[in-house]
Amino acid sequence: MLNIETFIDLGLDPGSANTLMCIKDKGLLVNEPTIVAISSDSEKLIAIGHEALNMHQKMHPGIQTILPVSNGIIGDYDTAQHLFRELLHKAKPRILFGIHRLVTSVPISITEVGKRAFFDMAEHLGAKETYLVFEPIAAAIGAGINPFDSVASLIVNLGAGSTQVAVISLGGIVSGESLSISGNQINHEIVQYLKEKNSLAISDYAAEHIKLQITATDRPERENRLTVKGFNLLSGFPETQEISTAALRELISTMLQEIILAIKKSIEVLANKPDVAVDILEHGIYLTGGGALLNGIDKKIHSETGLPVTICDDPQTTVSTGLCTILENFELYQPVLINNKTKHKP
Ligand SMILES: Nc1ncnc2c1ncn2[C@@H]1O[C@H](COP(=O)(O)OP(=O)(O)OP(=O)(O)O)[C@@H](O)[C@H]1O
Ligand SMILES: [Mg+2]
Repeated sequence: MLNIETFIDLGLDPGSANTLMCIKDKGLLVNEPTIVAISSDSEKLIAIGHEALNMHQKMHPGIQTILPVSNGIIGDYDTAQHLFRELLHKAKPRILFGIHRLVTSVPISITEVGKRAFFDMAEHLGAKETYLVFEPIAAAIGAGINPFDSVASLIVNLGAGSTQVAVISLGGIVSGESLSISGNQINHEIVQYLKEKNSLAISDYAAEHIKLQITATDRPERENRLTVKGFNLLSGFPETQEISTAALRELISTMLQEIILAIKKSIEVLANKPDVAVDILEHGIYLTGGGALLNGIDKKIHSETGLPVTICDDPQTTVSTGLCTILENFELYQPVLINNKTKHKP
């Protein structure tokens, strides 16, 4: 029988781009890309996380990469389960562990079927008890906001696969929306733009690099040209092109505008709850997720809504910080968790 000491309480944030794991009382344990590389012939696992991402960028023959989470939802449960198990094993190789309690963040758009699949996966991972928490609620807790407070807060989680806008008060989501406009969507638009306007084919990962370069805070505004390598669809050869960043900035700005529209909409629906709207005026908007690092996003949202905007510290880890806080204060936060009562009855 396993010694009870070897059991851990685990927080899992299975993001479309990055998977984060934390252990109760120990903090962040894993922060790696949500990707695996397998052999195309045998389907044997070759690499996970950062190592698999390197393979994805420079495709090797005979190797296939899989992104098991997309748009914030786990699409390939077998691969995801394999990935989570291996990431945990990589971080804690010598411990004979089991998972006592698993708390995992899920998007607010998750369906009942999606929840069911999460509980099944957790069971296969060996978790004795499994709880789900909506990502914006975990983010709020990670940002130091009390989700049970009667004073409402507006959380915008800008992830790779979705953007979630949620008004949180009294332990629940008063109003919320999950948008498909996200970090990956911006990358996709950059790929499409260069294909159409420059006849240049680039990968999603090259687009990610372009996005990070043109939105970097230290990039001078006057530097409006960027060197991009890709495949010329007309000549059929790889080439290097100098592209204008102005049009790409415009493209990103248009997509941000849609996010701002959704934020405005989530505030407008509060017309019949004026007190909640007044709370938001007071507390403002909290930005989490990697997209919160988009240069100037806070100023833009502020100028369009007139509301104060706070970018959470280290916004890509806010959700996992929240998961850790939940594990460390389990009784307190239990009311915001979704569990699978029927499955875990003694
Ligand atoms: N400095 C930056 N500027 C702009 N975008 C950034 C920056 N840093 C990271 N990102 C974007 O943040 C996204 C990753 O954020 P995050 O790790 O929160 O997503 P995720 O949790 O994996 O996804 P999701 O929650 O949607 O499933 C990527 O799309 C990445 O391009
Ligand atoms: Mg996320």
